[in-house]
This record gives sequence, C-alpha cells and structure tokens, in this order.
Amino acid sequence: MPIWYGGDYNPEQWPEEVWQEDVQLMQRAGVNLATVGVFSWAKLEPRPGEYDFEWLDRVLDGLHAGGVRVDLATATASPPPWLSKLHPEMLPVTQDGTTLWPGGRQHYCPSSPVYREHAARLVTALAERYAQHPALELWHVNNEYGCHVPRCYCDVSAEAFRRWLEEKYGTVEELNRAWGTAFWSQRYDSFDEILPPRSAPTFQNPTQVIDFDRFSSGELLECYRSEVAILRRVSPGVPITTNFMGFFKPVDYWAWAPEVDVIADDSYPDPADPDAIEFAAMSRDLMRSLRGGQPWILMEQAPSAVNWRQRNKPKAAGQMRAWSYQAVARGADGILYFQWRQSAAGAEKFHSGMVPHGGTDTRVWREIEALGGELKELSDEVVGTRVPARVAMVFDWDSWWAIEQPASPTAVPYLSGVFAWHRSLQALGVVVDFVQPQSDLSAYGLVLVPSLFVATDAQLESLHEYASSGGRLLVTHQTAILDEDLHVRLGGYLGRLQETLGLWIEEFSPSAGAIGPYAGADVTPEAATVPNVPFEGDIVGGRAEGLHWAEVVRPREAAVLARFAEPGLEGSPAVTRNETGSGAAWYVATLPEPAARAALLRTVLEEAGVETEEVPKGQERVRRGALTFRIDHGDQSVTIDRDGD
Ligand code: GAL
Repeated sequence: MPIWYGGDYNPEQWPEEVWQEDVQLMQRAGVNLATVGVFSWAKLEPRPGEYDFEWLDRVLDGLHAGGVRVDLATATASPPPWLSKLHPEMLPVTQDGTTLWPGGRQHYCPSSPVYREHAARLVTALAERYAQHPALELWHVNNEYGCHVPRCYCDVSAEAFRRWLEEKYGTVEELNRAWGTAFWSQRYDSFDEILPPRSAPTFQNPTQVIDFDRFSSGELLECYRSEVAILRRVSPGVPITTNFMGFFKPVDYWAWAPEVDVIADDSYPDPADPDAIEFAAMSRDLMRSLRGGQPWILMEQAPSAVNWRQRNKPKAAGQMRAWSYQAVARGADGILYFQWRQSAAGAEKFHSGMVPHGGTDTRVWREIEALGGELKELSDEVVGTRVPARVAMVFDWDSWWAIEQPASPTAVPYLSGVFAWHRSLQALGVVVDFVQPQSDLSAYGLVLVPSLFVATDAQLESLHEYASSGGRLLVTHQTAILDEDLHVRLGGYLGRLQETLGLWIEEFSPSAGAIGPYAGADVTPEAATVPNVPFEGDIVGGRAEGLHWAEVVRPREAAVLARFAEPGLEGSPAVTRNETGSGAAWYVATLPEPAARAALLRTVLEEAGVETEEVPKGQERVRRGALTFRIDHGDQSVTIDRDGD
C-alpha cells in the first residue's frame, strides 16, 4: 500500500474541460487518493428525490483511468436550499434562539428527523450507485461533524434531549438527584418540563449543561451511525471514515473512534504561531492514540495559507513538507489537503490549493509535486508501522467540559495543562500516547493524569490498579474533584486516589485572575498575566514558580518532595511521592514552570525506566517502525535515520 497523497477534489466547481487536466496533474504530483463530493448534495439531488449522478460517474471514471483512488463523500454536510425551504424546522437554533439559515453550510439540526431521512435517502442512492465502482477506496461520511453547529437548541432537539435523559435516568427522581435540582428551586416534576440549557439569567445547572454536551456529541454520532449502517449494508467491505478536527471540544472522539475504520484528521496549525508546531505534534499523538496506535490519515491540511483567520500567513518554503513529515512520523499513513484546485469563486477562494490560482509555475505546486514523489518512495518503509510510546497521558472530554464551566474555583483552560506537560515531554524526546483512565495501561512505564477533573469510581480504580501493580503514575492538581454527575467527591476530593497518592486536599488556592488559551500554558513566569505561586524542592531544581494554581495538600503516607513558599501556604506540599503496592504515585499541586517541570519529569522518567534525549526547541525526534525522523522546524529540514545507520 502507498502512503495516501491527495486532497479534497471539488470538480463541480469547474467546467468539465478542467477535469482531464486535473487527472494529469494529479498523476504528476503523485496523487493517489481524492476526496470527492463533500459538498455536492445540491448537484447530486437538484430536486427532492431526483438524482443526477452522471457527472459524478464521469469524475470517478476519469480518476480511475488515471490511477487515482477515491475517498467518496456522502455529501450530507451541506443540505440543498430546497430542503430547508420545504422543512424550515430542520434548521439549527442557537442557545439564544437565533435560527441559522442556509447560505453557508452545515445548516442542519443534528436531531432533525427530516434531515436524517433525507440524508439517509441520498446515502442509499450513492451507495447503490458506487458500491461496485472500481475507484472506490473509502467512504467519507459527512464532513467535520459539529464544526459550525456542534449543538442545536431548537424544539426538535429539546424533545430528543428529553428522550435521551429518560433513557439515561429512567425516572425524573433520579434525574433530580443527579442534577442536584434541590439547588435554586430547579426540581422537575416530569421530563416534559426539561429544556436544553438555553440562554438563562445566570449560571445554569452544571449537570444539565454537561448532559447536554454529552447528548450533543452523541446526536452527531447518531447522524454518523445512521449513514454508516446504510454503507455497511449496501457497500460491505469498503472502509468508512469521517474527518475529525484534532482537539475539538464539542465532540468526544473516544466515543467515535471505535466506529470509524480509520481515523482521519483535519489540521490547520497557524504558520504565524510559534507554539503551533508543538500543539500539532500533540494532536497527531491523539489521532494515533484514538484507535490504539493504528495508523491514521491526515485528511486535510492547507497547502499554504488558510482564509479564515484575521491574518493568513502562507506556509514558509519547506514548512508544509516539514509539517507533513511530522504527521507521518507520528503515525499518519496519508497526507491530504484541502483542496486540490484553489477555488475561483465562493467563500474559500482565498484558501490555498494544491493547484494554486497561479497554476503550476508556483512554489506551492512545486512543493506539492516534490513531496508527492518523496512519499511514494517512502511508502514501503512506513505504511502500517507503529510508533512506540512508553508514556501515556490521560485525556478526557468530560473533564474538559466540566473544568471549563463557569462558577468553578478559577478559570483554567483544560488544554493548557495537558499541552504544558506534553510539550515538556516533547522537549525530552519522549513520545506520548493518549489514553482513557479505564484503558489497559500496563504497557506504559509512566502515566500522567493532568487535571482529570471528572472521574468515575471505576476510572479511579483503574488508575490505582495501574500504580499499585508496578506502574508510575503522575497526577496533577484538580483531579477527581467531581464524579460523573459533577457531584463533589467529599472528604478531601480524589476518591480512591487518596490512597494511591497518600494524601488528601483541604482547599484550593488559585492565583487571582484567569489565564489565556492554550498558548498561555507555557508563559514564562515573567510574562504570566497572573501571579505565580513560588515553591521549592530539590526535585524541581531548587526554587521555582508554579503557574496559576496551588492547593492545600494534606499528606498521609506521601513523602513531600517540594513545598510552597508563598505566604499563607508556606510549607504546604507542592510535589509528593507515595509508594503504593509495587509502584509509585506522584502528586503535583500546581503547574510548575517549564524548567521545573523538566527537572521533575527527568527524575520520574528515570524511575519509570523511560529513556530521554533533550531535543532543542523547534526540533522533533520521533521513531516510527525502523525509521527515526528528525525534523528541524527552524530550517525546515527532515532527516530520516534507518536502523543500523
Ligand atoms: C475544513 C473543511 C473544509 C474547508 C477547510 C478550509 O474545516 O472541512 O471543507 O472548509 O476547512 O480550511
């Protein structure tokens, strides 16, 4: 199998004369996979129930004749104008009651039976027509579920939410218990009274809000499932995917991953953001981890600039290549772009394409062509190989949703902590898998648990088991504060982990003020916009700053390795270590500044038997199969070492 190379191909935007040239140019660039038809519903079904497939037949036949395989989209991401004219009730509604009208894309309520029925009818017709087409390699269901409309608050959604709650809780009494509706006179007498968390005068019921997050992610998954059921029946044996969006908050990809045959990801790091490359590395690790290390496809990236930021910097010479190798090194078996030919009209005409407005005598085209050739050469050594990782980090959507709810101890973006620890591990040359707390963790030398704010008893038991049976566990602040109903774990938080860690938490002591989005995660203490909390101990190399958070930790069996040095907290433990069974568990009650984090990690990794190699900023070193990729994002060079080199 080759490394897949190609992109979104939207021939319906072009006269047919161009199609032939498209195939010739694809051959020149080494394109072997084209994603076809993502936004073609209005052309495929110009009037209700009337299909026009002939143009698509010619496109697929042409690609097949040119040796290009097809990732065929189900075209359900942008309903045609006639559908919402006939059924305006299928349009989505925002939290404050605004209807989102057609004229853009993704204007459908995920719970709408009308939308789902019409989508199912189209998918059936497409699958019947193309199941046997020789160019068909992969089905591409919908597009970026939830990208623009992750939640809908309309009456149809409200009804679906009620049914979902009834299924989950059985009785309204049980819902009242879970939601804690004794607070603020919120008691429900029947399910009929319940609404989605529409705009309200003040803080909404936290459990209602997280249940709506869970429901909304689940409704999108139901849309996906209903299309998949048709494809599996009509087009058996052809793999199915849908494109994810990295760390996308509204959709819990752990729940989705078992239902796609191959993970596909869309990734648009900002070439102007110095932190983007490390953040992208972390996203690639997540994509590889979602299906337990199985190779994934980078389904979309920009050949150069995007057009949807305020300022859209093109990728520098060599940058697209270096970023593509980052994905390959971290487990991708496919490098694809949005889109093949840069549009001449429409809302994305200023988004770069593999064939730019300027044609083929352009830097972008030359880079596309060159990379296609290189990846073809590399295919045999890469495809299907795995990326070994000895360290895992727990990542959890419930915790993400809950920790960022308002009315919390302080506003802490979940990703800021996750990213901070991940980039410290990157700098030590350590490759990280993401896991769920209940995963089988036994293969890992070290498991990091950054701010697992919400945890079930079973999840905590799994982490305890891992540590007690010889693992090395590092848990950070704000872990297991709440259970799955968002009820506080009384008596010192942490639940079962109190025993694992040998301590309990008396009180939070966050710095005043909020910190920024992920890029603020590693602000140096000097640049921080909120006061840091000093702490000291040999384990962190002496005196250090803790970023934005502290806790009053009450050790029982745990040994104290570093202590806060701030008035009021003096002497209170900041870093502890506890032996549990045949393993050990650390607790870190703040986010140490980068140097302190690195010092701590070096000790912990050594104890866990994980090798480290300092990697200078802007560089990466990742092993995949028998290859070691060294990428320098400064001069954009890529070196590939083979075993035995
Ligand atoms: C993606 C989307 C594509 C295109 C691209 C532009 O989110 O799937 O259709 O819009 O962004 O960056």
